[in-house]
Amino acid sequence: MTTARPAKKPIIRHVVSINDLTNKEIEQIFEVAQAYLDELADKSLPYRIGRGTTLGAKSILATLFYEPSTRTRLSFESAMLRLGGENITSADPNTSSAAKGESLADSVRVISNYADIIVIRHPKDGAARLAADYSTVPVINGGDGSHEHPTQTLCDLFTLKTKKKTLRNLSVAIAGDLKGSRTVHSFVYALARFGAHIAPRPAPGMDLPAHVDKRLREEFRCTIDPNGPFGALYCTPDEPHQPTLFAEPEFKIVGGKPTIGAVYVTRFQKERWSNKDQTYPTVDAEFLKQPEFSHASVLHPLPRVGELDVSVDSDSRAIYFQQAAYGVPIRMALISLLLGLVRGNHCTGSKAGSRARASRLTTSLETKDCNVSTRIVSCMIRLKDRTYATSFS
Ligand code: NCD
Repeated sequence: MTTARPAKKPIIRHVVSINDLTNKEIEQIFEVAQAYLDELADKSLPYRIGRGTTLGAKSILATLFYEPSTRTRLSFESAMLRLGGENITSADPNTSSAAKGESLADSVRVISNYADIIVIRHPKDGAARLAADYSTVPVINGGDGSHEHPTQTLCDLFTLKTKKKTLRNLSVAIAGDLKGSRTVHSFVYALARFGAHIAPRPAPGMDLPAHVDKRLREEFRCTIDPNGPFGALYCTPDEPHQPTLFAEPEFKIVGGKPTIGAVYVTRFQKERWSNKDQTYPTVDAEFLKQPEFSHASVLHPLPRVGELDVSVDSDSRAIYFQQAAYGVPIRMALISLLLGLVRGNHCTGSKAGSRARASRLTTSLETKDCNVSTRIVSCMIRLKDRTYATSFS
C-alpha cells in the first residue's frame, strides 16, 4: 500500500502591507525599478518610462477596483503594458457581479483563474488580506479602506531616496489627515524601519490611529519625544527593526536647529469621515517660508483638493509629480519580482555558482528581451554579492 503524499502548496507572495516586504526586498524593488528607468526612460524626462520590454509577455494583470482611482490603477496597467503583458480590469463595482451580491471571496477565487496577478482596491480595511486568502495568484493591495497602501509607500520612499540619498536620520513631517490616510500608515512604518524621524503634523482631531501609534512604539521601538524640536516626534531607535537601506546620515543642522528634510501632505479623506466640515491646514508658499522647511522636499500621494496650493508647483522643493511618475517603474519592478520575471535569488551562493546562474539568467533574459537585458542582468549580478535570501520567487 502506498501512502499518497499531500501535494505541496506553492508559496505565493502577496503584498497587503508594507510590512510584508523586508527592507532588503524593498531595496531589490528599487534596484530593478532603477534598472527599468536607466533602460527605458525618456531621454529628456529621466523619471518617465517611455519605452517597453517583452519580459512580461503573455502575463495578465487583473485590476479589481471597488473605489475610485486614477494613479494606482492606471500606473499598474501602464506598468504591465510596458512589461509586454496584458490587463483585464473591473473598475466599477456597479458593473461587476459585486452589484448582484457576489462575495469578494468568490470573485477573487474566480478572477485568480483569469489572471497571473491581481491588484485590488476596496473601501473596507482588511479586504486585500481576505482577497489574498482566497487567491491562487499574488495579490497586491492597491489601498484598503483607511488601513494601508503599500505600493504608494514604495513610490514615496523611492522618490525620497532619489532626492535625499538616505532616509537614516531624515526628519519627515507628515501633515493632514493622519487618521484616515492609508498612505500615511504604510509610510510611517517604512520610515521607522529605515531609520527616519517622523514629525506628525495632524489636522485637528486627525492624529495617527491608536493601533498605528502602538505598533510604531511596540514593534518598531519608536519613542515619542514631545520636547523635541518638532513637538511630538517619533524618533527611531539606535538599532532599527531591520538593517537600514540608506546608510549615510542626513540630518541638517541650520543655526543649531535641525530642519525637516521632507514634508508629506495628504488630503482630508472625506469619504472616511461622517463630519465632512472640518478645519484643515493648507501647505502653501507661506507655510514653506518657515525656516524649519527651508530644505524640505514636498511630497503628496495625490489627488490634492486644496490642501496643497498650486503655487508650490513651481517651487524646486516640490517633487509630487515626479513621485506620481515613479508609480510606473516601481510597479513594473514589483510585478516583475512577484511573477519571477527577474529573480534576485538566481544570483546568490558561491561565486562560480553565481556566475553560472547569472549567465543562465543572461541567456533567458536575452532571449526574452534584448532591450533591457544588459542593465537588468548587471543589476542582478551586483545583487549576487549581497547574497539576497529573497523569497520573491
Ligand atoms: C491615495 C489613496 O487612494 O489612498 N491615492 C493614491 O493612490 N495616490 C491618496 C488619497 O486618495 O488621498
